Amino acid sequence: MQNVLHLGPDARALFERVRDAVEPVLEGSDPRDRQIFLLRFERWFQNLLDGLRPVYGHHPDFEPFLLQLARDLAEGFVARPEALKELDLERDLTPDWFQRESMLGYVFYVDRFAGSLEGVEARRPYFEEMGATYLHLMSTLQAREGENDGGYAIRDYREVDPELGDREDLRATCTSLRERGISVCIDLVLNHCADDHPWVQRAREGDAHYQDYFYLFEGRTAPDAYERTLPEVFPDLAPGNFTYQEDLDAWAWTTFHAYQWDLNWTNPNVFLEMVRIMLDLANLGVEVFRLDAVAFLWKRFGTDCQNQPEVHDLLQALRTCSKIATPAVAHKAEAIVGPRDLVHYFGTGRRYGKVANIAYHNSLMVQFWSALASRDARLMSHALAAFPRTPASIAWGTYLRCHDDIGWAISDDDAAAVGLDGAAHRAFLSEYYTGAFPGSHARGRVFGANPKTGDRRVSGMLASLAGLEKALEEGDAEGVDLSIERILVGHALIFGFGGIPLVYMGDEVGMRNDYGYEAVPEHRGDSRWMHRPAMDWTAAARRHDPGSVEGRIFAGLVGLARARARTPHLHASYTTDVLDAGNPHVFAYARPHPLGTFVGLLNVSEAPQEVSADLLRDHGLERPYDQIAQGFVDLGSGRVRLAPYDRRWLI
Ligand code: GLC
Repeated sequence: MQNVLHLGPDARALFERVRDAVEPVLEGSDPRDRQIFLLRFERWFQNLLDGLRPVYGHHPDFEPFLLQLARDLAEGFVARPEALKELDLERDLTPDWFQRESMLGYVFYVDRFAGSLEGVEARRPYFEEMGATYLHLMSTLQAREGENDGGYAIRDYREVDPELGDREDLRATCTSLRERGISVCIDLVLNHCADDHPWVQRAREGDAHYQDYFYLFEGRTAPDAYERTLPEVFPDLAPGNFTYQEDLDAWAWTTFHAYQWDLNWTNPNVFLEMVRIMLDLANLGVEVFRLDAVAFLWKRFGTDCQNQPEVHDLLQALRTCSKIATPAVAHKAEAIVGPRDLVHYFGTGRRYGKVANIAYHNSLMVQFWSALASRDARLMSHALAAFPRTPASIAWGTYLRCHDDIGWAISDDDAAAVGLDGAAHRAFLSEYYTGAFPGSHARGRVFGANPKTGDRRVSGMLASLAGLEKALEEGDAEGVDLSIERILVGHALIFGFGGIPLVYMGDEVGMRNDYGYEAVPEHRGDSRWMHRPAMDWTAAARRHDPGSVEGRIFAGLVGLARARARTPHLHASYTTDVLDAGNPHVFAYARPHPLGTFVGLLNVSEAPQEVSADLLRDHGLERPYDQIAQGFVDLGSGRVRLAPYDRRWLI
């Protein structure tokens, strides 16, 4: 074989040994398959080494580990069904598949949406009507008995929650959706497993091999020392980061709940376990892994133990494993961190473009709510304009809310740049979205109040935060109209910003807060359950009634989805440049494109606004066509008029 990558002499010699190690596994495979696998391995070998060496390179057994990993990858590839190998080839040729303007995500808890995996298939016409091409099936794998953090405490990574079906059902669901162009995403919880996972059980039984999968400390010295710089994720529900285990007389590292044990990623065996799991699930047909809570994977004394460089190395190595054995698969990083930390999840410097394919755009979400509450887009424009550049090969996951709370991740510096006090503005947003601020339209609740930092995160359904719940309750027809416009301007933002828009279950028909969680013992006290309702199919049935609230929102979303799909400027590989709209109530941005520049205009206030026609002319738009309204915009008056919460996608 030719030296496709011009590996250096060391890496080449190592690669030769890797090839010798995988040959026996590939024996009996179709010769073309064998050739493809080895070519991919060679092509990505340097990326793999560059990811692994900083974390495991000092290990005396580094090479045996690498050879074992290689054999695992080869086994995963050999076990891969033909149809998925075809998809791999297709995506070798179309690596931008997840960046396309036709991509649209829909996210739901399988049980709450459809009862079971079979139920998901039965609901296929619903996704198709919306235009969804990507489904994030939440809480699919077998989680802990009892309380399990909404499925994020995994007891068996290879089994499906028995209430929802089994592995064959997952395979069948992925297959039937794939055949219709819909990709399945599931969570891969990397940072921790449940305390009833067999690894924990074996560790408890005194098996040193498995004790090494976790962080266990005798006495409080180390935990106390770490605690000095560690934040608390759930300050009220699960204070502290360590949990005493009586049977072991030791403290286990538990960043999240006491029943979620952090995995020790300094141990290469943990890496191998996760790779095998990933290959197994990919071979069932999972196309996107949402890598949960990745910021926390690496601990470093004296830090907040988030976003450590080793996290990015590990993610580069994991991603490379997928590229070698199951290249159809994309990785989505869940790192809900500030902009400066976030870009590293796509890879910067030597890791540029090699880490995750997709990451949540947390700032976009937070800035949207901030702009809506203050009717002012200046902070949003400033923060997003200062956002570091990202590689052209990635996509943001753009969203307005998710199954978690909204934390006011607005930096003091960004606030100060537009004349605001960061702490006061964050406090205002908490007040506003819990409905306490005079004149607020929102109905939300506090989540994770932290008296030490003053943080008060917020829970609530999109529609309730946007004012629909209050307006309906008060019989305020104008309030209803405005809240629908807020919901739609938000969706115009996430559908038109560049990235994969993620619509959260129920938002497409304006479902409101579910206060029933208080009656459920495992959910009481965790207000996030307020925005994780069971799907209201009665409300959804009204989606075709143009006069109903559901019908207005649904039609608006479908209209945006169609407009998006016919707008090539929204392919995620192009950049978004924030513009100065010359009007504080308008968020404006451009997406330069070979077909001409796209300009987005969003009015974040309930008053009509105007922007100067020069803003458009400066970007070559003499006779702009609005992709949403499907009509030309007349610039004759020198102004573009925007109705309350109006949105324009101009090309
Ligand atoms: C992620 C999940 C969240 C969960 C946490 C711990 O942030 O989105 O729901 O509580 O990880 O797994």
